Amino acid sequence: MSHTLDNRIALVTGGDSGIGAACVATLAAAGAHVATIFYHDEKGAKDAASAARKHGREGIAIQCDVGDEDAVEKAFDEVRDRIGMPDILVNSAGLNMSGVKVTDMDLKQWERVVRTDLTGTFLTSRRFARDLRSAEKPGAIVNITSIHAFAMRAGGADYCAAKGGQQNLTETMALELADAKITVNAIAPGMILTPMNEEAVEDKDYRASLTKNIPLLRAGRPEEVAEVALFLASPAGSYITGTTITIDGGLSLLVGQGA
Ligand SMILES: NC(=O)c1ccc[n+]([C@@H]2O[C@H](COP(=O)([O-])OP(=O)(O)OC[C@H]3O[C@@H](n4cnc5c(N)ncnc54)[C@H](O)[C@@H]3O)[C@@H](O)[C@H]2O)c1
Repeated sequence: MSHTLDNRIALVTGGDSGIGAACVATLAAAGAHVATIFYHDEKGAKDAASAARKHGREGIAIQCDVGDEDAVEKAFDEVRDRIGMPDILVNSAGLNMSGVKVTDMDLKQWERVVRTDLTGTFLTSRRFARDLRSAEKPGAIVNITSIHAFAMRAGGADYCAAKGGQQNLTETMALELADAKITVNAIAPGMILTPMNEEAVEDKDYRASLTKNIPLLRAGRPEEVAEVALFLASPAGSYITGTTITIDGGLSLLVGQGA
């Protein structure tokens, strides 16, 4: 019962796909009403919201670019008006690395990833925490970062910088919001089979060429990440704040080996 989310209201960004969609289903199965924030994939968002409703909970889908300040404010207003003020926020919206080296990267590319993966988390978390602080209610923020917040890749400057920033933002907010009883934690996934890893999802041989480098010899499933989000948002995780839980099958343990 310590994992129950009865009477809780969750807002999940990127809830139309991959890890976010798994979080919507898992949080609703644990008892939360869930708002799914999507940007492109309206069908994915509606499917996720309908999966939440199958658990007898409210499930709504709202379009919002998390990097747009006005859009974020409007989305939170709509969630409050339709299902109530969220007390769980999962920031899963994100874009992958460009693969472009710094010397070849233009400002637009840099800003595209930083705006979504880092500024988006700032904008949603700020509004979420302001609302809870004024209402004197506790809550939980769970940020989906990446092992690339601390294990860098050439060609990933936009993503590694954004995810490193998101990681530091997580820890800073944990300090700032502790007195309001709002916990702030991160989950750092390694290779998870979602549309972000489309080629690995579709091509078994390509997938095997990558998973042979993972100590557990497989990629993770979005549902496995969602279970960690549930733990952090539930009473079971109530004394955890400012922490990162890595979920990567041991991949990041290999940093520094081989040379
Ligand atoms: N899949 C992995 O291997 C992996 C590994 C480490 C970290 N992550 C992180 O997990 C999170 C979820 O990724 P995923 O694997 O589910 O990928 P995904 O592509 O399935 O989902 C990403 C989601 O972000 C949303 N999004 C993109 N730009 C947006 C914007 N401007 N406003 C609102 N929403 C926006 C998309 O609509 C999509 O729903 C991301 O932050 C990603 O960086 C994923």
